[in-house]
Amino acid sequence: MKQTTIRSLRLSAYLGLTLILPVQAQAQANETSPNGESTPQITMLQLGENLYINPGRGGCTQCHGEAGNAPVMPLYPKIGGQSEIYLYNQLIDYREKRRKNGLFFPMEVAMEPFSDDEIKAMAHYLAAQTAF
Ligand code: HEC
Repeated sequence: MKQTTIRSLRLSAYLGLTLILPVQAQAQANETSPNGESTPQITMLQLGENLYINPGRGGCTQCHGEAGNAPVMPLYPKIGGQSEIYLYNQLIDYREKRRKNGLFFPMEVAMEPFSDDEIKAMAHYLAAQTAF
């Protein structure tokens, strides 16, 4: 019973983010700079890709390769094309130090710098890639 409550809370949190993010993106799109020009719009897909390939933060490509499906060694998972909510939950669990199986340690470190919204964007980007 308790398990079910926790799961439904997490699902609500996920769905809440899905609803909030487009609104924020829209708000950003409407912002104008002091000289009246529109600020460039960045989609959630682009944000996710930028975060995924950014070597200064998670450095995901160093281990999972391009588009999540070219891992540097067979022990590392292919993650491109996986379901978005599954990826989101795994990444949150690593950051919150709740997933402790297998080679969890590099993932705990990799996820430390990211906010919920940034994790959502990376899950969105990875889910949009072709699965192998
Ligand atoms: C130093 C290498 C390394 C880096 C950097 C790294 N990962 Fe991982 N990742 C791993 C390994 C190894 C695992 C498998 C852990 C296990 O055995 O449970 C993993 C697991 C995962 C999983 C879970 C896959 C599944 O099927 O449950 C996801 C999602 C993931 N990584 C995404 C990312 C993202 C996004 C980044 C960048 C923010 C990243 N990883 C950075 C090595 C890395």
